[in-house]
This record gives sequence, structure tokens and C-alpha cells, in this order.
Amino acid sequence: HQSRRPDYSELYELMTRASDYYQEQLKAAPDAPRVVNYLKQRGLDGQTCKQFGIGFAPRGWSNLQNLLATSDEKEEQLVKTGMLVENEENQNRYDRFRDRVMFPIRDSRGRIIAFGGRVLGDAKPKYLNSPESPIFHKGRELYGLYEAKKSNRSLERILVVEGYMDVVALAQLGITNAVATLGTATTLEHMQRLFKTVPEVVFCFDGDDAGRRAAWRALESTLPNMQDGRQARFLFLPQGEDPDSMVRQEGSEQFLQRIQDQALSLDTFLFKELEDGLDLHTMDGRARLTKLAQPYLSKLPDGIFKQLLLQKLSELTGLDSSRLEAHLNTETEQKT
Ligand code: UTP
Ligand code: MN
Ligand code: MN
Ligand code: MN
Ligand code: MN
Repeated sequence: HQSRRPDYSELYELMTRASDYYQEQLKAAPDAPRVVNYLKQRGLDGQTCKQFGIGFAPRGWSNLQNLLATSDEKEEQLVKTGMLVENEENQNRYDRFRDRVMFPIRDSRGRIIAFGGRVLGDAKPKYLNSPESPIFHKGRELYGLYEAKKSNRSLERILVVEGYMDVVALAQLGITNAVATLGTATTLEHMQRLFKTVPEVVFCFDGDDAGRRAAWRALESTLPNMQDGRQARFLFLPQGEDPDSMVRQEGSEQFLQRIQDQALSLDTFLFKELEDGLDLHTMDGRARLTKLAQPYLSKLPDGIFKQLLLQKLSELTGLDSSRLEAHLNTETEQKT
């Protein structure tokens, strides 16, 4: 019986009941008008909120506990999912999410596995997320993927953004193919999952330092997944903008046009970063570029794309591309 899969159906059921409760609170809570006003102010209508199951966790330390912890067993399950937090000193349990707008996170089968909760004002932390749990593994899940699949008969490409509000705002304006990485770096697992779903991924992170770092991490996770036929592009937004602010400012047509005109191909982004600060008119500059490029090129699966990147490096350095490849291979062997 050791190999039998644990049965988490009761955990999923509790998450669904929690989500139902939060959605009801958008109407029933004394604070409901304030929350509805906030959502409106962010440009969301009722249909979009419903589509994403957006809700509200009212103030108070034990709303969810009183509703759902109907037995000791249920209470333990709520602790397991992170919906209740346990005070380490006195073992008191209380609701994790209080006075927050709630975004349910679904797995690929549509089951609710976690929540993100946003404060209505400027309090910190701005977003609180469910912790890792038996049913929630951050590095694997993508917010909005289930919803994107549901609203598109066939998906050709997916936009990867940073935040809940980016996904929801884009959907509100008709761009229904965005998913978010939930404040964690884009992982190999994310990329495997995305490329199983679509041949083209466009990364569109915030126009700030964190967003640019996130794009580079995404590139690193993409390289091993760049089988021929797959495409990855990187859109950099103006400083201070994110997809939510951008699409609301310029509308969805302009935003899509922006992707068309400005998104960098993977090779462009890669070499732009690697060349940064190097003088390719000098030999040591070209040698340095070769050295810097090596670990990235060696992450690529064998194929035409890798050959083309080698060719590009060969054009930049003036080195024969088969010589380059031989060199890269020996470098890689020495390391392993
Ligand atoms: P941002 O700060 O860019 O969030 O963080 P945002 O979506 O633009 O927020 P608002 O609502 O428009 O102001 C991007 C993502 O990083 C995670 C969340 O998933 C968020 O959507 N994050 C951010 C956290 O988990 N905790 C935080 O305190 C902040
Ligand atoms: Mn940001
Ligand atoms: Mn943002
Ligand atoms: Mn934002
Ligand atoms: Mn740079």
C-alpha cells in the first residue's frame, strides 16, 4: 500500500468550499461595496470576476475556520492546505486570509489548489499566497492556464506574465491566453508544461529591474526546452509599466501590436545581454563572448536551432562554426 497515491479529494473539496464562501462574500460581507468598488476601479467587470472565481476574505480571524472546521479532521486538513495558520507557541489556529481580494489558483484539471490574496490598500505584504502543500507546488503551477485553455478552443501561443492582475486585466480586454508564474521564477517544469500546450511562448514581465531579472531566468529555463519548432519571445515594457497597466492604457489591439513589433527573439535577447559591455572589434572581446555564450549554448537540445545559434556566434566572432562547436563540446566535457 506504500505505492498507493494519497487521496487528497477532501482537501480539494475544502478549497472549493472556501472559494464559494469568498465569492459569496463579494455580495454578503459588510465590506462588499468597498471591494466591488475596488474591482471596478481596476477595470474588472462581474463576468471576468466570475470567470476567475475572484472573491473576498472578510476581516476576522476565524470566519473560514468557523465555517469549514466542523471536525478535528477537517481542521487538520485546513491547516494542511494553509488556509488556517497555526500559532507555534499556543497552537491556536486562525484564518490565513483576512480582508483580502481572493484569487483561486487552479491546477490543469480545474481543481482549486491554492489562493492568492491582495490587500485593498497599500498594506504589506501586497499579496499573500498559499504555502506549498500536498496539493500545491509553486514551481509547477501557472495561474490562469486552466482558464486560458477553457476560453480558447485551440491555443497557439501563451503570454507569461508576473501577476494575477496582469492575467485578469488582459482577459478582461479580450487577451485570454495569459498565465502568471505567481511571483516565483519561471522553472523548467513551467516551460515543459507550456510547450506541451503551445509552440510559442511570449514572456512579458514588468518594466522594472525585477522584471528584467525574471526574463533572464525565464530564458535559462527555456533553453533546454527549445526543441525545433518551438518559439520563445521576450517583450520588455516601458519602465514602470506592467501588462495590466499597459493594456488598460493602450488597449488590446495596441498591446498585441506591441508584441508583434517589439518582442525580442530568444537569440536576440541572449546575445544582446551577453554582448553587453563587450567590444567585439577586439579579439579579447570576441573570445569573451564565446566563453560567456558557452554555458547557454550547451543547454540547448541538439537541432537546427542550436546550429543556427552557433552560426550566429560564428558571425559575431569570426570563428568557423564547426570549430566553435568542437570547442564548445570539449569545454562541456571538461566540466562534466
Ligand atoms: P507585482 O507587485 O508586480 O504585482 O508582483 P501586481 O500584479 O502588479 O500587483 P498590483 O495588484 O497590480 O498592484 C507580481 C506578482 O508577484 C507576486 C504576486 O503573484 C504578484 O501578482 N507577489 C507580489 C507576491 O506574491 N507577494 C507580494 O507581496 C508581491
Ligand atoms: Mn513588479
Ligand atoms: Mn506588476
Ligand atoms: Mn500591477
Ligand atoms: Mn544589458
